[in-house]
Amino acid sequence: MTYQNIILEHAEPGIYVLTVNRPQALNALNAATLEELAAALARVGGDRAARVVLLTGAGEKAFVAGADIAAMKPMNAQQAFAFSQAGQQAARAIEELPVPVIALVNGYALGGGCELALACDWMIASERAVFGQPEVNLGIPPGFGGTQRLARRVGRALAMELVITGRQIKAEEALRIGLVNQVVAVDALMAGGLAQARLIASKAPLAVQACKQAVRCGLDMDLANACALETSLFALTFGSADRLEGMTAFLEKRPAQFKGE
Ligand code: CAA
Repeated sequence: MTYQNIILEHAEPGIYVLTVNRPQALNALNAATLEELAAALARVGGDRAARVVLLTGAGEKAFVAGADIAAMKPMNAQQAFAFSQAGQQAARAIEELPVPVIALVNGYALGGGCELALACDWMIASERAVFGQPEVNLGIPPGFGGTQRLARRVGRALAMELVITGRQIKAEEALRIGLVNQVVAVDALMAGGLAQARLIASKAPLAVQACKQAVRCGLDMDLANACALETSLFALTFGSADRLEGMTAFLEKRPAQFKGE
């Protein structure tokens, strides 16, 4: 598939960089872009050598400035329903990808852009990043999962305030409230993301996938069932060659050579 609105690069072995590429519209998400994102994520999901994805936006100004307002304006309720479902599906595809997805937020992450970043496993922001759910200014609530993922990330009252007032926050506040894990200088964002990606790629791939699945699925369960899931994933890794290699390498005082098996 050739993409018109995104760029999928295999930056280094196991490391993909996925860029929303509509800088003329501040990378706003229209239906075609959502479809391409889903296709690109499926492609990465089908690559057994994939280890991590960095998701970012093209240009100087924006990660993603939201759903495409020009595309939404003529929609009726049924079309809006389908559009919301497509956005929800793209967000779910990020969450369900077995490998970690890190959002590199290089500018505005508003509305659907904030929602896309929230679906990622964590975010690194540049000092220029701005977050918000300004949908109330357009007469709509968030539609790509923002009311749910923001509340789960920063807590009910803060999420309620942000979606109801549309207040936008800068990187520093995003760090303070736990929306982002790290804030770096604008020029250091991709390098910082790649450094973290290389670190992830150096770990045992099946263990990394088990960690993602346990945290992601466990948070939607009660504690007893979530811990039972963790036990199953823990035990499953004992059948992997990498588990034996990791423990043997430790005891032999040498670096482990993981193969993802
Ligand atoms: N949809 C469509 N086009 C957009 C867009 C969006 N969400 N955001 C920006 N653009 C376009 C602008 O229309 C403009 O296009 P033209 O050059 O053709 O006029 C171009 O991108 C540059 O934008 P601005 O001139 O507005 O740039 P700025 O620096 O003055 O302002 C901004 C930047 C504050 C991000 C401003 O563009 C803005 O407020 N954008 C809209 C943000 C927003 O409301 N997002 C939520 C959308 S609704 C949603 O996402 C629903 C959902 O949950 C699913």
